[in-house]
Amino acid sequence: MQHIKLGELEVSRIGLGAMGMSHGYTGAGTDDAESIRTIHRALELGVTLIDTAEIYGPYANEELVGRALQGRRDQAVLATKFGLVSHAGAGAWNLDSSPANIRTAVEGSLKRLGTDHIDLYYQHRVDPNTPIEETAGAVAELVAEGKVRFFGLSEAGPDTIRRAHGVHPVAAVQSEYSLWTRGLEERVLPVLRELGIGLVPFSPLGHGFLTGAVRDESQFEEGDFRRGNPRFTGENFRRNLTLADEVQAIAAEVGATPAQVALAWLLAQGEDIAPIPGTRRVARVEENTAAADIDLTPGVLDRLSSLPPAAGETHPEGARQMLER
Ligand SMILES: NC(=O)c1ccc[n+]([C@@H]2O[C@H](COP(=O)([O-])OP(=O)(O)OC[C@H]3O[C@@H](n4cnc5c(N)ncnc54)[C@H](OP(=O)(O)O)[C@@H]3O)[C@@H](O)[C@H]2O)c1
Repeated sequence: MQHIKLGELEVSRIGLGAMGMSHGYTGAGTDDAESIRTIHRALELGVTLIDTAEIYGPYANEELVGRALQGRRDQAVLATKFGLVSHAGAGAWNLDSSPANIRTAVEGSLKRLGTDHIDLYYQHRVDPNTPIEETAGAVAELVAEGKVRFFGLSEAGPDTIRRAHGVHPVAAVQSEYSLWTRGLEERVLPVLRELGIGLVPFSPLGHGFLTGAVRDESQFEEGDFRRGNPRFTGENFRRNLTLADEVQAIAAEVGATPAQVALAWLLAQGEDIAPIPGTRRVARVEENTAAADIDLTPGVLDRLSSLPPAAGETHPEGARQMLER
């Protein structure tokens, strides 16, 4: 597996998102043994970047990743996130990137992950009540103490990225980026490149939609966030199936799977991009990781880049307000 650099942090070309093992998707938390085998198989295949967050569960996903990495910690570049749990009383899904909250959060994450350091510590969402300089300063202190190696942001806009980077170098920005979510190309990506910051695309498979495995709204159980997502409901869902069909047709032509085509397209967008496809299954981590060896021709890349835009917003209104785009 080829490696690239996110800022100064070296990671595998393709990482693994662990969220869906415990949180958000149909089947989450139902087979921890297979989830742990999936993480182990990823490491065997040369994947280093393993992605989790305090809010996933909350806490259950960090605990699972911690269990999976017992005895293998040095094989992983471990990334987690703070800022969506307020430890001052408000609890989960409340923005809090104050220095005091980060201090509490990091101790919990270290404990659950069974480690004395986090390789990449992201702010999960920008907190309008805390100047980003204070957040960056708090993370810089954790870096000085050896508890954190690198600083990241998630779904931050250009101004926040510049201000944070001015206080402490930002190694990576993790934001949604895929064949059907390309909003950051215009304003965010140029700033990342100017400042030498890497990009970690989350939901690179469009929450599974681009793989062709999602064909019917009734597939989503209670608690699956896609049930309330504009792209996965009603007329938008039906229109987006055409998009998935086109990815599938191109995949058949090039002798790859749709998931691999979606990932290979992302890899072709730059050597500073390391996607983190999420799966809780060994067979799929093998399939997704193999995309690192697929080179698409310029003609195929053009066709993929010219696919029609997705129908519907990426998030429902409440969640959309937390994104800086
Ligand atoms: N920073 C943020 O705000 C943020 C937000 C969302 C996600 N993330 C991170 O990004 C990671 C990836 O995003 P994501 O999991 O939301 O979306 P994703 O990677 O686009 O898609 C995951 C979905 O696709 C399915 N899948 C995976 N590989 C497949 C394949 N080869 N064929 C068919 N289906 C496949 C998975 O099901 P199975 O598990 O059943 O295989 C799961 O339902 C997460 O795990 C998380 O770490 C970050």
